Amino acid sequence: MAPPRRNVELKARDPRPDRTLERALALGAEDHGELRQRDTYFAAPHGRLKLREQEPGDAELIAYERPDAAEARESRYRITPVADPATTAEALDAALGTVVVVDKRRRLLLWEGVRIHLDRVGGLGDFVELEGVAAEDSDLAREGALVARLRAELGIADDALEPRGYADLLRTAHAADDDGAEELLRAAEAVMRNAHVPYSRFPVGAALRTAGGRVHVAANVENAAYPQGQCAEASAIGVMVAAGDTEIAEVAVVAEKLEICPPCGGCRQRLSEFARPGTRVHLGRSGGPRRTLTIGELLPLGFGPEAVG
Ligand code: THU
Repeated sequence: MAPPRRNVELKARDPRPDRTLERALALGAEDHGELRQRDTYFAAPHGRLKLREQEPGDAELIAYERPDAAEARESRYRITPVADPATTAEALDAALGTVVVVDKRRRLLLWEGVRIHLDRVGGLGDFVELEGVAAEDSDLAREGALVARLRAELGIADDALEPRGYADLLRTAHAADDDGAEELLRAAEAVMRNAHVPYSRFPVGAALRTAGGRVHVAANVENAAYPQGQCAEASAIGVMVAAGDTEIAEVAVVAEKLEICPPCGGCRQRLSEFARPGTRVHLGRSGGPRRTLTIGELLPLGFGPEAVG
């Protein structure tokens, strides 16, 4: 079997991709333009395995091994062309399982045999990667020195270095999102028990996470003059405003008698006034069936504060 190819690589978050590009070009790096890449990661028993689809360019399967380390480290990889990426992805998914899909836009530059990747990664943000591609018999000293020099020239700070790969970062981000949803659903479920619903006997709880990270909760409150009753979401907005908050970052709604309780039309309007079209709304139950929609999906073409000046 042929030995794997090797490189010395480093990854860092990039707070100023425009400046990094300028510095790389000033050093004389060749600009190879922008690529759109979609990497599907599979649960490989050894190392990492991804199917790369790109535009422009052909699909390829990449198997590689690389330690998670902040400093420049060695990566060993094998790349093979893939003629039919869709059926290859299906076969690998069936055999190994898909872990995560990473979408990115990559600006590729080359300097002294070092690949410079300016990556904008979906859901993660901007990164810079340096890959010193090694000759077959290299002891990696030269590639390591080139990567170190380029790192200094581009001004990549210690605290920007990222030891983990995009797939792991994205999985962590997804898990954190999920934890947030679960926590919010639990808060809504707990407050639902205090619902005052002698007429409908339909308890509902709502939880609102604010942009600052505080969580406000409330339940529905009914009245013998039925129209005076108030939904859980409206009550929670009242609690939030009373606490001095006005920006909703995430919402959860739980009802005792309905697995997925869609907010009423009036509450979609109320929530939208304090949220953004992309704000997520979790409907369901913690640990149970759940649907997550955005405010924009629940209330397309919403009437907002801008309409009344
Ligand atoms: N309700 C809510 O609190 N939120 C909703 O999203 C739907 C409905 C309440 C209003 C009333 O107290 C009871 O559920 C039955 O309509």
